[in-house]
Amino acid sequence: MNNDIICICYSRTGKTRKAMREISGALDCQLIEVRDRIRRGGAIGALRCGLDAMRRRTWAITKFETERPLWEYKLVILGTPVWGGRCSSVMRGLLKRRGYEMSNVAYVITHKTEERYTEIFDQMDQYVLKPHVAAVSLCPGSTGYHFWRRQFLKQCAEFAGVELVLTDEDEAAEANHEAAASDRPQDGKMIAENMDTEH
Ligand SMILES: Cc1cc2nc3c(=O)[nH]c(=O)nc-3n(C[C@H](O)[C@H](O)[C@H](O)COP(=O)(O)O)c2cc1C
Repeated sequence: MNNDIICICYSRTGKTRKAMREISGALDCQLIEVRDRIRRGGAIGALRCGLDAMRRRTWAITKFETERPLWEYKLVILGTPVWGGRCSSVMRGLLKRRGYEMSNVAYVITHKTEERYTEIFDQMDQYVLKPHVAAVSLCPGSTGYHFWRRQFLKQCAEFAGVELVLTDEDEAAEANHEAAASDRPQDGKMIAENMDTEH
């Protein structure tokens, strides 16, 4: 188990949890799930989530234990769903209360539409001491999902100086991307840009 990285996520319906499980698996590190005490299930819960996100309202986060104090981790990877074009208020609640303890952070956001929401990374940076070292915007089920997750993993592994444990899907996504780029070398940049807009 790699003790220099920790993954912390909030997930309401499981999509961010799944992405973060894949990421913590590839980096062989601990994954912790956080929540607040608000009932966020069902249609009423979703409405509450939307309102909290719009008003930037946050609540206390339930207690969680880490192997080391947060500031001792070389990298803290935070995962959150997008709510109303913002990070979830649960993740904002965590960042507000514990963000200052994190030495280096990386972000994973998941969302339903093809928009990238990269401005959310800057919003999240407001609560931490240093700007994020890596970030990825994932649309579960989209064509670029595995490719972009893999790029993110590479950045995190390089930053923390650890080896990646890759799945067959990750290897296949990389191979497909390289094959597409070498088929049309003059379009290499264009392909990357297109993939950027695909997810
Ligand atoms: C209150 C609320 C607001 C949302 N707002 C957005 C949004 O602005 N853009 C988007 O693409 N998806 C939005 N979604 C969809 C979620 O971001 C998306 O399904 C996410 O992957 C769910 O992650 P989870 O399963 O970990 O909770 C919203 C979902 C909820 C409940």
